[in-house]
Amino acid sequence: MQPANAERGQWGSRLGFIFAAAGSAIGLGNVWRFPTTVGQNGGAVFVLVYLLAVVGLSFFVMIAEFSLGRRTQRNPVGVYKTLAPGSAWKYLGVLGVLTGWGISSFYSVVAGWTLGYLWKTAVGAFNQASADQIASMFGSFVADPLTQISLHFLFMVATVLILMGGIKGGIERWSKILMPLLLGILVLLVVRSVTLPNAGIGLEYYLKPDWSKLTGRGVIAAVGQAFFSLSLGMGTMITYGSYLSRRENLVTAASWVCALDTLIALLAGFAIFPALFSVGLEPSIGAGLIFVVLPNIFNKIFLGNLFGAGFFLLLAIAAITSLISIVEVPAAYFIDERKWTRRKAVLVSGGGAFLAGIPAALSLGAVPGLSSLLTIENRTYGFLDLMNLLFGQYSLIIGSLGVAIFVGWKWGLSNLFAELREGNPDFRAERLFGFFIKFFCPIIIALLLIYLIFNPNAFA
Ligand code: TRP
Repeated sequence: MQPANAERGQWGSRLGFIFAAAGSAIGLGNVWRFPTTVGQNGGAVFVLVYLLAVVGLSFFVMIAEFSLGRRTQRNPVGVYKTLAPGSAWKYLGVLGVLTGWGISSFYSVVAGWTLGYLWKTAVGAFNQASADQIASMFGSFVADPLTQISLHFLFMVATVLILMGGIKGGIERWSKILMPLLLGILVLLVVRSVTLPNAGIGLEYYLKPDWSKLTGRGVIAAVGQAFFSLSLGMGTMITYGSYLSRRENLVTAASWVCALDTLIALLAGFAIFPALFSVGLEPSIGAGLIFVVLPNIFNKIFLGNLFGAGFFLLLAIAAITSLISIVEVPAAYFIDERKWTRRKAVLVSGGGAFLAGIPAALSLGAVPGLSSLLTIENRTYGFLDLMNLLFGQYSLIIGSLGVAIFVGWKWGLSNLFAELREGNPDFRAERLFGFFIKFFCPIIIALLLIYLIFNPNAFA
């Protein structure tokens, strides 16, 4: 099948695709959200459940998304219009496009923090500060409207510029340079962390399961984290799959992406927990883990400013390769369905996300009214939290459920297997894949969704 529009483009090589898809998956989700969630859910037990969720759910949903994208060579809306014309399935794609806009707005704000902290750490802003001072520095940093909006703007401009380069020249070229760099800095940080005094306590917390810490909420959080981290449920992987050639082996590609993403998340944990326990801090402090605690740690280690700046550079790199994949989804929709040029599509997609991100950027203290919009069971949601809850959680779970049901029950397993045999004529695992995609994934994800409806704080 020919691409629908010459503005679409294709990946230059198989390795380029794997780098780009891994670059999408690896982001704030791995380096920031994963350790935070591990710390809130009892350490090693959570890590184990997370690994099961990646292998048992995310891997198969990723295969489903890649297959839909490559078969149709379309954006998430186009996929359903092509495979189920005239049906309501296209609204699942519309939800994905809206979700891309919603996630990119606040993701860019949080990504902006990494730039701010890269700068602060490099110039030694935390050097003589006490733990309390560092905490209040974070508070005043996120409450400063000009800083928040400027960093958000900077991040979105960089994203739009990369995306304007198109598929081969933009996303792929950048991912090829940035991903290995990211791995290198992370390994460096892990080596520093595990050689600190008392690193063993952190390693034990991270690696030795304490079964009494296994909770339903932890299981749900692990499954949700596995979707978020692998960029599933809104059509990112449909869109990336749509730029893939028929010769590629989708099962191999998905295996690589899942393995690399998990490797980075696990390494991030190895970088953070030994250092955390080495200076005697609590693992369960939540969202502030990196921005409040790490400067304390960097203060106490040799060449701390250098390691600190390296760490935030790493986060910024990881965040931008993810953000480009989120902004690309609405852009692909405009290119395919509205026949816009890539330039116009990317400007509108990025510009819209920037505007939607402004209230998120102002919701951490700059405009007090925006920082507490809703209270559920003692937890207060500001604008940013609310966007995260609606788009980053509910919408992704609904989207993943929809993809599994669509592929398993509407498009059908025989079409899926035919697509998987393209580029992999020896594919023989029909029964295994059929069971997971048609039954296991829809049932487990549906249960997760039901749980979330009654426990909106499960991820909070
Ligand atoms: N997976 C990325 C991360 O870990 C974020 C991301 C990119 C994403 N594309 C997505 C999350 C699509 C959900 C859906 O930071």
